[in-house]
Amino acid sequence: MSDRTFYVTTPIYYVNARPHIGHAYTTIVADALARRQRLLGDKTYFLTGTDEHGQKIERSAAAAGVQPQTFADQVSGSFAGLWRRMGITHDDFIRTTSSRHKQAVQHLFATLYERGFIVLRSYTGQYCVSDEAFVDVAPGEPCPECGRITETLSEENFFFKLSAFQRPLLDLIESGQLAITPETRRNEVLSFLQGGLKDLSISRSSFTWGIPVPEPAASTAAQKHVIYVWMDALANYITALGYGSSNEDLFNAFWPANVHLVGKEIIRFHCIYWPALLLALNPELQHKSSEAPPALAAERHSAWARKWLPQAITAHGWLLFEESKMSKSRGNIVRTETILDAFGPLCPPPEAATDAASTQPQRDLFASDVLRYFLLREIPFGQDGSFSFDALITRYNADLANGYGNLVSRALNMITQYFGGSIPSPSLDHDGGQDPARRECGAMAEAIRDDFQAMQTRLHPLFDRFAFHDYLLEVMRLISRIDNFLSASAPWKLAKSSDEEDRRDLATTLFVSAQGIRLATALLHPVLPFATARVWAQLGLGSIEDAAAQGRLKMLHWAEFKPGTQLGALTTIFPRADKGLAQKMTEMESSIAPASTPSIGTEPAAALAAAAAKQEEPTANPSISIDDFARVEMRVARIAVAERIPKADKLLRLEVELGDERRQILSGIAEWYTPEDLLGRRIIVITNLAPRKMRGLESHGMLLAASQDGGKPYLATVPEEAPLGSRLK
Ligand code: MSP
Repeated sequence: MSDRTFYVTTPIYYVNARPHIGHAYTTIVADALARRQRLLGDKTYFLTGTDEHGQKIERSAAAAGVQPQTFADQVSGSFAGLWRRMGITHDDFIRTTSSRHKQAVQHLFATLYERGFIVLRSYTGQYCVSDEAFVDVAPGEPCPECGRITETLSEENFFFKLSAFQRPLLDLIESGQLAITPETRRNEVLSFLQGGLKDLSISRSSFTWGIPVPEPAASTAAQKHVIYVWMDALANYITALGYGSSNEDLFNAFWPANVHLVGKEIIRFHCIYWPALLLALNPELQHKSSEAPPALAAERHSAWARKWLPQAITAHGWLLFEESKMSKSRGNIVRTETILDAFGPLCPPPEAATDAASTQPQRDLFASDVLRYFLLREIPFGQDGSFSFDALITRYNADLANGYGNLVSRALNMITQYFGGSIPSPSLDHDGGQDPARRECGAMAEAIRDDFQAMQTRLHPLFDRFAFHDYLLEVMRLISRIDNFLSASAPWKLAKSSDEEDRRDLATTLFVSAQGIRLATALLHPVLPFATARVWAQLGLGSIEDAAAQGRLKMLHWAEFKPGTQLGALTTIFPRADKGLAQKMTEMESSIAPASTPSIGTEPAAALAAAAAKQEEPTANPSISIDDFARVEMRVARIAVAERIPKADKLLRLEVELGDERRQILSGIAEWYTPEDLLGRRIIVITNLAPRKMRGLESHGMLLAASQDGGKPYLATVPEEAPLGSRLK
C-alpha cells in the first residue's frame, strides 16, 4: 500500500424521507471511487451518513406523530440498511445526532465565537424551510432555488462573518487551489462570490431540534439557540474523523478531503460556507466584531487552505424521473429496494453444478451491480439524467447480458469444451500463412496483446476525471472487440479440424479472449464488484478482492496470465431480463402506500399549476381577468440542449432547465435559429400547456417569441440574473 491517502465523502442525507435512487446515485459514485482508489493502493476513507437536525425533520416527525429522535432513528436506519444491502463499502456512517458529532460541532462553534467570527445580531428575513436557508427575496415571494413559499423569520441570531471571506475564496477558487468541477458549477460559484457575500445567520431560536449553541455564546442571547443545520451538517466531514475530540488520528491522517461529492443544488453550501468556516479556524485570524474584516495576505490563507480546505468539490447532476428531479415532494421517486427486489431473483446460483438458489445477500449484490452499472454508464457525470425502468432493462440486456455476460460464457464454455477447462497456450507472432482470414485473425490477436497496457493507460484517467460514462463505453468497446475477434476466428469450426495450424489458432483465439475478459473484468471491478468477483473466480484467478487489495488490478500485464490455469466452476453471469420486468417494477412502486412521512412546506409550483389547470375554461370574452392571466404559467428557463430532428426541417428539439426541473420542448424555429444560436440562452417558457406529441416526441411547453405575419420569431429573453424557474407575473 502506498503512503497516499484518499478521503471521499457523500453529502449526509436528510432523514425527512426514505432513500430513493437519487440518494443511491451519490453513494454509488462515491463507492466506485473508493473501491478504485483502494485498488490503486491508496489508504482510503469513505464517509457517508445522515443529516438529522433542523426544522424540516422536526416538522416531518410531528406530522408522523413521533419524537424527532425516533423519527431520525428510523429513517437513518433505512439508509444504513440499504447501503448494507447494496454492499456499499463506507468506512464510517456519521449521524448528526450522535454525541461525538454534537460535541465536535459545539467545539467548532465555540472556537469561531472566541475568534470573533461569530456575533449576535437581530435579523428579519425570508426563510425557505425546505432548503433550510435564508433567501434574498421579498416577503410572499417564492424561494428562487426551489419555488416554494418562504416564511418571514424575525430572530435574534448568531451570525458568521462570511463577508470577510469573499476575497480569499475568490483567490483560492480562481487559482485552482480549491477545485470545483464541473466548470459550469465553478463558474456559478465564482459569479455568486463576485456578487458579494453577506454574513450568514448560523443559529435559530424558533425551534429546538438542533445542537444547542454552546457557552459562553449561549448566555449572551435572550433566547436559547440551536446551531444552523447547514453548519451542523457540513462539520460532519471533520467530526467523523475525530476533529475536536480526544483522538484526532484519523483527522490527521485523512483531512483535508480529496473530494466532497455533492449534488449540484448544494454547491453554495459546500463551495462557499464550508471553506469559509474552515478558513476562519486559522488561529492567525482574530476578528473582533467592531473591527473591519481581517486582512491576511493571500499566501497566508493559501498555506492554511492547503491543510484545511477540501482539495476538490465535485457536483453531479440530478436523476430525473418523468422529466423532473426525483424527490419525495413531487411524488416521482423510485426506491432502490424495488430494483433490488426485481432484479435480485435473476441472480444465478453460484455454481452451475448446484441447484441451490442464490442467497438473499447475493441477490441484492447482483441487483446492486445492475443499478450501479446503469447509473454510471447512462449518465454523463455532472449532467442530469433520466431514469426509467425500460431504459434500465434495455441497458442491462444490451451491455451486461448480451455484452459482457455473453462473452464470458461463450469463451469460457469453449475453453471447457475444447481444453478441459485449462487456459490454452497461445502462439502469437507467426505470419498466418497464405490464408487471408487466418492472417486477419492473427493480426487481431496481436493488436489486442499490443494494446493491452496502453488501453489501461488510456482508460484510467477517464475514471480519475469522473468520466464514468466514457470509461464504461470504452470497456464495452473492448468487450465488442473481443467478441468480434471470437466470431471472426470461429473457434467452433477450428475445433472440428485436426489440422495442426487450426489447433494452434484455436488455442490462441481462446487464450486471447480470456486475456481480454480478464482485462475487462479488472476494469469493471469498481463498478460491478459482485459480478466481476464471479468472473475472476471463473477465470481460475481466485478472489478479485484479494487481487485488488494486493495491488494486482492496478495495471495488468499480459505475461501474468499463465496458460494451464484451471478455470473455476462456470455459471451464467447476467441472464437476460424480460421486458415484463419494467411493468413489474412499476407495479411494485405504485403498490407502495404514499410515504408515511408527509412532505413539508407548501405545494411545489407544478402541483399548483396542475390545480389551476383543472379550473373551468373561461367563456369567450375579449378581455381576461387577472385570474385568467394567472393560469398561464410562464417561467424563466435556460436552453441546455438544442438539436435538429432528423427529417423535420422546421423543428428543433430543446431541453430547457427550469431550476429544479428539465424538460423537452419541440419548437418550430429551425428555419431561423441553428442549435448553436440557442445554447445557453435564457428564455421564457409557458410551462403549463398540456404536453403534445410531434414526430413521436413529447413536447412539454412552449417558448415565448414575438413575430409578425409568420416572420422570424424573436425569442423573449430575460437578464442573466433572473433565477431559473422563476415565474413571470
Ligand atoms: N442534508 C443535505 C446535505 C448536507 S451535506 C453536509 C442534503 N440532503 S439530501 O438528502 O437532500 O440530498 C443529499 C444528496 O442526494 C445530494 O447530493 C443530492 O443531490 C442527492 N440527491 C437527492 N435527490 C437526487 C436526485 N433526484 N438525483 C440525484 N441526486 C439527488 O442536501
